[in-house]
Order: sequence, then C-alpha cells, then structure tokens
Amino acid sequence: MTDSSLPGVPTGWTGYLAPEDRLDELLTELGETIAIHGHLVFAEGPPRPAAWVQNVWYEPRRIPIQSIGDGVRALKSIQRNWALFPVAVHGRAKLIEEQLPPVKPKPLAFPSAPPSAPLGSWTLTDANTLIAAARCSSPFRHGEVVFAENREAPPNRAYLKLWDAFTALGVRPAPGELCLDLGASPGGWSWVLHETGARVIAVDKAPLDPRITALPRLEFRQESAFGLSPDAVEPVDWLCSDVVCYPARLLTLVRRWLESGRARRFVCTLKFQGETDHATAREFAAIPGSRLMHLFHNKHELTWIKL
Ligand SMILES: C[S@@+](CC[C@H](N)C(=O)[O-])C[C@H]1O[C@@H](n2cnc3c(N)ncnc32)[C@H](O)[C@@H]1O
Repeated sequence: MTDSSLPGVPTGWTGYLAPEDRLDELLTELGETIAIHGHLVFAEGPPRPAAWVQNVWYEPRRIPIQSIGDGVRALKSIQRNWALFPVAVHGRAKLIEEQLPPVKPKPLAFPSAPPSAPLGSWTLTDANTLIAAARCSSPFRHGEVVFAENREAPPNRAYLKLWDAFTALGVRPAPGELCLDLGASPGGWSWVLHETGARVIAVDKAPLDPRITALPRLEFRQESAFGLSPDAVEPVDWLCSDVVCYPARLLTLVRRWLESGRARRFVCTLKFQGETDHATAREFAAIPGSRLMHLFHNKHELTWIKL
C-alpha cells in the first residue's frame, strides 16, 4: 500500500515502549519528547538510539475515527496483525480489539525463530484518535518474549536472558565452540551454552549446581572472574558474563578481553544497583560493532552484545 492510500496522517514521531518500571531511564536517553502515556513515549523525528526500550513504533500515523467500526476498518485495511497498548478510553479500545483478527502466539520453544508476520501496535489516545504503527522493532506483542520454559533442567530462571539474547541475535554458539561463562553459579547460562553443543568453561567464586558441574563438556573454575587472565585459557568463541558487579568494573574486564583479542563474541549483563549508571552504559554502547539493549527478561539490567 502506498503511503497516501493508508488511513490517517503521518505523525512524524517515533513511539518507544519502555520496559515496565524503566520509564525514567528511557526519558533520560531520549531527551525531548512529545507525549508520555504510561510507559509509552512519543518523540519527534526518526528513531533515536536508546537501550531502555522494549518496542519501537516506527512511523506511527494518527487516524481520526468517529466510531468503533472506523477504527476496525482502518486497522484491517493496513494489515492483519495488531497489538493494542491501552492508554485511555479502555472500554472503547477493547471493543475495537475484539473485532480485529485474534493474535495469540504460542510460547516460543527455544531455539526457534521469532514470528515472521508483521505485528503492528496501536492505541487510542482519546475516543476519536487512534495512533497506529504498522512496523515495530519487536516481532513480539509489546516486545514481550514468552518462552515455553524448561522447569526441570536449568537451576534457575536466569537462563531465559540468554535464550532471549540468542533469539534476538538469530545466532548462538555452534557445536564444538568454546564459551567462557563468567559469574556462572548456579549454572543457568552454562546449561544453555552446553545445550548448544558448545564446550563451556564456567567461572564463579560460588559453586555450581551439582547437575551443572556434572555436564560432560563443562569445566568449572572456582575463582574470581576479575583475576582470570585472558592468557590463562585458550581463545574463546563466546565470552558471557552475568557477574554481579558495578558496570564500570565490567567495562574494565571487557576492555581487557577486547585488547587481548582472545574473545570473539560477547554477551554481558550490566547490572545496576541503585542509580542507573548512564555514563558507563554510554561507554559500552560506544564500543565499535556492539549493541546495548534491554532484553525482556532483564531486570534493572542491560545486555551488551558484540558479535
Ligand atoms: C546473577 S548470578 C549469575 C547467574 C548465572 N548466570 C546463572 O544463569 O545461573 C551472579 C553471579 O556472579 C557471581 N560473582 C560475583 N562476583 C564474582 C567474581 N568476582 N567472580 C566470579 N563470579 C562472581 C556470584 O557468585 C553469582 O553467582
């Protein structure tokens, strides 16, 4: 469909859905904004770089409606799949939603590709104004990645962060590759890495769950991740870190490994305690060829990835 045959008018904005409870972080990153509806923010112009965002609404259009039927017809004329993010006139929005084709994806079985059908996002800001973005950054409703969980093998739910990262990247360790898992205890990430067929060196001051220690292609080193010299292990394909530490300390560790050239790919969690350390987050984001993002399963955390 050409732009002029689409219903409504371009707003010239971009929409950003912050992770729940992380609106302040997003607002700090975005600077000036147009409107804030709960944790949905609209800002002028094309997408701005932001890590604290769960879904980006590209080129949202403002569609005036007189009736529920108007809203339904407008959305259906653009595409099939829509996710409502309700911010106002909830009852009216729900009545429109009920007349749209249902979108009920099954929990994703890891590893599998995310849904490929375009999924738009929309909201009603008042009874007669519908804002809709046919294209969004996430193929999941509001960026919420729901997995079919494994409640038996992994020792905790931290493994979901790594599933989330590998799903977003579309790449994961290949059989035979070597992964270094820093801050590995009790072993959720090590379990994910091992399941890919990779070899794992797990490092933590605390012991692993015995079922993880017993995995055949896993070596456990009970020591500090910060004391481990890159020369003390063979070059690694993946350096993963979920160590609890200040982001600035993690940055020093990452720089050391980058300079050594002995780690090819990185997936590292930045964990914030109290105030969010935006300055260090920006330093991570500025590392060439890398990206900094908030995964759905991150808490007061960001994930830094370099492939
Ligand atoms: C959130 S937990 C990691 C969970 C793990 N990724 C999993 O999936 O089971 C953080 C870990 O960092 C470890 N840690 C803290 N300081 C460390 C250090 N200096 N060296 C290694 N591990 C450290 C803690 O012992 C803890 O096990």
